[in-house]
Amino acid sequence: MNLEKYELKGDQLPIMTYPEPVLSKVAKPVTDFNKDLEHLVKDMLFTMYHAPGIGLAAPQVGESIRLFVLDVDYDRETVTNSAGKEEVRLSGFHPMVFINPVITGTSGTTTYEEGCLSVPGVYEEVKRHKTIHVKYQDLKGDFHELEADDMLAICIQHENDHLDGVVFIERLSNLKKNFYKKKMLKEKVR
Ligand code: NI
Repeated sequence: MNLEKYELKGDQLPIMTYPEPVLSKVAKPVTDFNKDLEHLVKDMLFTMYHAPGIGLAAPQVGESIRLFVLDVDYDRETVTNSAGKEEVRLSGFHPMVFINPVITGTSGTTTYEEGCLSVPGVYEEVKRHKTIHVKYQDLKGDFHELEADDMLAICIQHENDHLDGVVFIERLSNLKKNFYKKKMLKEKVR
């Protein structure tokens, strides 16, 4: 798959919501850089864009492996089609894939109101590092390094947390954390 010439193709995967156990598990490293992995990434990107979201980690689609996709820079436009129906048009994709990522350096702090496809309806400010250095592998297994700040850094930290079984509400104060945990549990039971 050529990310430079990304085409919006794939299948929409069901997204697990908190407290689904897979979301609290530490994910395993990716060892096979094969067609199946490429297929999963394709479907994860498709699922993320249609959700819509700016990041999606493999555990969120039930795969407990160290992989996430993100795009902090695409366009989403609601247009009226020829049949007079409202339609969402997505364009200007900049997909990124991080496999076996490791955050090797951090500096500064920043806060941003985060949300998560696995915790629908919850938006809360989370404190994160402003700048990070991350090492990761691509779909071929080749190693890369990246210095990221602001939105990209926040997104990488949020997605990387998913690989360690941490959902963003765990990063809130005890009071808020317990409130949302109870709320999500109740919604799950219903
Ligand atoms: Ni999330």
